[in-house]
Amino acid sequence: VLPNKYEATAVASPKQASARCQEEVKFKEVMVYLVEKKMGRSRRNFLTSLARSKGFRVDDVLSDEVTHVVAEDNQAGGLWSWLREQGLRDISKVQVLDISWFTESMREGRPVTVESRHHIQVRDFDALEVLAESSEFNENEGRCLAFRRAASVLKSLPSAVRSLGATQGLPCLGEHTEAVIEEILQFGRCFKVEEIQCDERYQALKLFTSVFGVGPKTAEKWYRRGLRSFKEILNEPAIQLNKMQRAGFLYYRDISKTVSKAEAQALRCIIEETVHWIMPDAILALTGGFRRGKEYGHDVDFLVTTPELGREEGLLLHVIDRLQDQGILLYCEHQGTTFDATKLPSCNFEAMDHFEKCFLIVRLYEDQVEGGLQRNPGDSRAWRAIRVDLVVPPVDRYATALLGWTGSRQFVRDLRRFARKERRMLFDNHALYDKTKKMFLSTTTEEDIFVHLGLEYVEPWQRNA
Ligand code: CTP
Ligand code: MN
Ligand code: MN
Repeated sequence: VLPNKYEATAVASPKQASARCQEEVKFKEVMVYLVEKKMGRSRRNFLTSLARSKGFRVDDVLSDEVTHVVAEDNQAGGLWSWLREQGLRDISKVQVLDISWFTESMREGRPVTVESRHHIQVRDFDALEVLAESSEFNENEGRCLAFRRAASVLKSLPSAVRSLGATQGLPCLGEHTEAVIEEILQFGRCFKVEEIQCDERYQALKLFTSVFGVGPKTAEKWYRRGLRSFKEILNEPAIQLNKMQRAGFLYYRDISKTVSKAEAQALRCIIEETVHWIMPDAILALTGGFRRGKEYGHDVDFLVTTPELGREEGLLLHVIDRLQDQGILLYCEHQGTTFDATKLPSCNFEAMDHFEKCFLIVRLYEDQVEGGLQRNPGDSRAWRAIRVDLVVPPVDRYATALLGWTGSRQFVRDLRRFARKERRMLFDNHALYDKTKKMFLSTTTEEDIFVHLGLEYVEPWQRNA
């Protein structure tokens, strides 16, 4: 009986359908679409009938006729990206509204004037990230950094900005950023951002750079050749993928998906066991986003070193062999050390560090993860592929390497800027140098670095912005 009953509420019977046609349309300029997600099907059906009985037009499908999209999802989590994927001709013409607009309109018996409090807002820092990314694709590095910095500042606030006044006195917000915030406060969205997101080149570059081993330069090259999809790239005989990119495509479905904390923890156990099987007193530290307490990441990062200087030599190659023997190494790019203490201090901070390292793709089995793996729908495999970075600094460089690899990228970048501008000190993943005293400062722990810089210690979980 149940399925029938369910169907009866989900699909209007012919009788109901004809009744609907007879309902008088009072407000021709408005076409409502109710988003089912979070609202649920039965509530959506109820609200649809209610609105129609009051003379509103409600579309069952999201067509270009829709003027008012109403959702129950106040946090806008996923709503905007879902909307963008619906292929509307001009998303900027649609009002995206909270259920409060609908409720008030039902109460008044007419579509009430849309006010800014009705808008479901995009998150301001997400909008800024899009602008930063687009600047990066356009090789405008200065603007890209400015947007990233502004996004970081907004992310670090305890709550969302609700008025322009609230941004006063905040550092690093330029006029472009202010304009974006103002637009989002007024309309719930930023039209420049939406324009970028609809741009063909932006979409292609974003897609291509989501592949492991594909940077903006390669992506641009493919775009210029007229390629727009993975299929077109893989079918283009003139394109020679390198080993990293081949692995990137081969494991794309797995490694483009986020890694959970539980999955990172499981990997930590595997790496720890492997490292300690080879050298019981080796030191292993989880770094990257997971050390900063993030729930999800794009990979899992580790630092490996030894208590005595020099014993780290050869360790990483052993670890790689051992992972290979366990049959869980899907991809490995090893880079030997190019570290040379006589070349310090370096002024080129954005460059890769010189430590021995490897970029891996590792197989993680279902039963190794507490609570199981995060799965793709319809996937019955008992494992997934995960990106892992292992870096091996000599122990006397451990603290600076740990700080650098813990990130976030923006936090470390700004700390370096502060050191240079305010303290006349240079530091990177290898060393901390005092330009006034013309000497290197010794650092055994991260705390030492903060002490030298004359700053209070900042816990890893406070380094996200
Ligand atoms: N890093 C670095 N040198 C590199 C690569 C990365 O110093 N050659 C630093 C980055 O600046 C970052 C940290 O190592 O602060 C971790 O890098 P990454 O894994 O890319 O970022 P996460 O912060 O871990 O973010 P995610 O969760 O997306 O992995
Ligand atoms: Mn990481
Ligand atoms: Mn990484």
